[in-house]
Amino acid sequence: MRPVIQGLRGEAGFAYIAKARELASRGVKVISFGVGQPDIPTFDHIIEEAKRALDERFTGYTETVGIPELREAIADYLNSRYQAEVGPDEVLVTTGAKTAIFLAIAAYLGPGDEVVVPEPSYPAYPEAARAMGARPVFVPLRWKGQERGFELDVEAIEEAVTSRTKMIVLTNPHNPTGEVFPPEQVEAVLEIARRHNLVVLADEIYDNFVYEGGFRSILTYSGWKDNVLYVNGHSKTFSMTGWRLGYLAAARPVIERLKRLAVNVYSCAPSISQRAGVAALRGPWEPVRRMVEEFRRRRDAVVEELRRVPGFEVPVPRGAFYIFPRVAKVLEEIGMSTEEFVDHLLYSRGVVTLPGTVFPEKAGEGFIRLSYAVSVEKIREGVGRIREEVEKLLAERGRR
Ligand SMILES: Cc1ncc(COP(=O)(O)O)c(C=O)c1O
Repeated sequence: MRPVIQGLRGEAGFAYIAKARELASRGVKVISFGVGQPDIPTFDHIIEEAKRALDERFTGYTETVGIPELREAIADYLNSRYQAEVGPDEVLVTTGAKTAIFLAIAAYLGPGDEVVVPEPSYPAYPEAARAMGARPVFVPLRWKGQERGFELDVEAIEEAVTSRTKMIVLTNPHNPTGEVFPPEQVEAVLEIARRHNLVVLADEIYDNFVYEGGFRSILTYSGWKDNVLYVNGHSKTFSMTGWRLGYLAAARPVIERLKRLAVNVYSCAPSISQRAGVAALRGPWEPVRRMVEEFRRRRDAVVEELRRVPGFEVPVPRGAFYIFPRVAKVLEEIGMSTEEFVDHLLYSRGVVTLPGTVFPEKAGEGFIRLSYAVSVEKIREGVGRIREEVEKLLAERGRR
């Protein structure tokens, strides 16, 4: 097997979830802040449409690019929300957003090429790049302290561009920090791409999970099609992670070429999921609004609770459903690494968090990620356990 494939890393989040499951099977009451998916089932009207599709025996292959009704519904969504001027023929339906990411990277990056990845980052982009023999060039986000959170280091992104650079990744709202990058930073990244003739892989899968306003989609910038491969999907917005439905929007010639890659990889997205995906986008949207309201309450609760933990620095995340507190001061006091601390919380208190270092290298050192896609009650209980443990560790340290 090619060494680059042998060297690929799995998504570490899944490994921690397996550890938690093992612990739970031994009777430990585990509270998990590990998994990145809403905790509620897919909304009823979407399930009803999937049932109808099954009753009609809509069970065969579909067009590789997606059924026309779904491509239209996606274009309508992007146009009504972002005035994106997307035609249905500028949409490719994929098996989850992850496949859209993989296709985009496979199409644009080859051996020796570079992709600029702001870090911490969702790990799929650098791993896909490595699989292609390309090199991810990480540019750390700038940590501005508890009050201001993280920002994109636009100057460092431009400095990282070389003659081998083909792509810049921009996830907004951001996983794992929960940051929503201000429009001027998004525009600056787009400008860099224009100046250097690069593509921006813009992943906006959390575009509905925005709590304070201030989010501006990259699709609102005129001429975006010259430089942007846009990724979104149904997984988070409609709580459809298991249905494997995502999409990519780009200029038509790009879609035409990606289609040839797609047909050789997955033929088409699941037919039943696609029908359900149309119902999701056509609405009603009330269940989505209610879910996001609930996530806002959870966000407020998780911030409040985490800020009671001594030594934690807790920026207020404005989007997605992740929070990324800085715990470096505690680690220094108690003499643990980020990974040891996360394991300790799991084995001593049954609380699953993820070390910032799985996103995917150095920039997350001294941070942990919590996904607050659980009830407020569980948030209070789980973070309460973390607080008690940290207080205990600090007191023990004080006695030594
Ligand atoms: C930023 C980001 N992009 C893409 C994905 C993958 O989405 P999907 O499940 O639709 O493949 C995730 C999932 O966690 C994500 O956080």
